[in-house]
Amino acid sequence: MRQPALDLVIAALEMIREGSDRAPRASRAALARLGTGDPVAFSLVAASDLSEGMSAKGRRLQARDKIASLSAIRERVRACTKCSHLARSRTQTVFGVGNPDADLMFIGEAPGVDEDQQGEPFVGRAGQLLTRIIKAMNFAREDVYIANILKCRPDTPAGSFGNRPPTPTEMQTCRPYLVEQIDIIQPRVLVALGAVAVEGLLGTRATMRDLRGRWHTYNSIPLMITYHPAYLLRNQAPSEKRKVWEDMLQVLERLQQPISERQRNYFL
Ligand code: URA
Repeated sequence: MRQPALDLVIAALEMIREGSDRAPRASRAALARLGTGDPVAFSLVAASDLSEGMSAKGRRLQARDKIASLSAIRERVRACTKCSHLARSRTQTVFGVGNPDADLMFIGEAPGVDEDQQGEPFVGRAGQLLTRIIKAMNFAREDVYIANILKCRPDTPAGSFGNRPPTPTEMQTCRPYLVEQIDIIQPRVLVALGAVAVEGLLGTRATMRDLRGRWHTYNSIPLMITYHPAYLLRNQAPSEKRKVWEDMLQVLERLQQPISERQRNYFL
């Protein structure tokens, strides 16, 4: 099984070397996994790195490879029992949703009760606000990719209401799945929603006041940090909503999307 995949990767590398004026590239993470013989790494290399600079047909194939690579991870996540307490308490895992070839990817913290029920990230009240933000940016949910640090809902005591934030250990355990998702999708811009998402992704603990509204990087990908939509539901001050919108204007500029006068003056 591994040799045919390797042959494909080598053939694609040779195509790039012959048909392009630059050397083939592969991300460090994908190369490291190739060294371990991990079969997913073959598709990672093929999907995320090899086809840059190829024809439109090549890029379409790349999107197809991304779908296959994401499906393989989705299956591993579905069967995951690394956090046995969460595997016992969850209704289902919540992998991620959207365009596998998205330019823009949002990262939240963990599924809540609605997401656990429906198997899709950001479908509850905070999710509806995120959808409004995405639409105000002139995108549809299907255009972007949305995922969380945790793929399981953090468990809560029986009979209690609400959600709890993920623990550092839960985030460390689940993070590799998100790393793989980002590695495959290779978005042009990442948006981390809230301090917990930042801690899960970068391992950095800081206040949102220090983090938000400016560019950071994750694995060479520009990363914008903004407030979690749940914060905006708790704090309805127009000034806070405007801050998130200004962060999204920066994202649109970075993606070189046209911004209308109406969008410039918009308040969430
Ligand atoms: N909050 C999150 O961070 N993620 C979800 O999927 C829903 C709410």
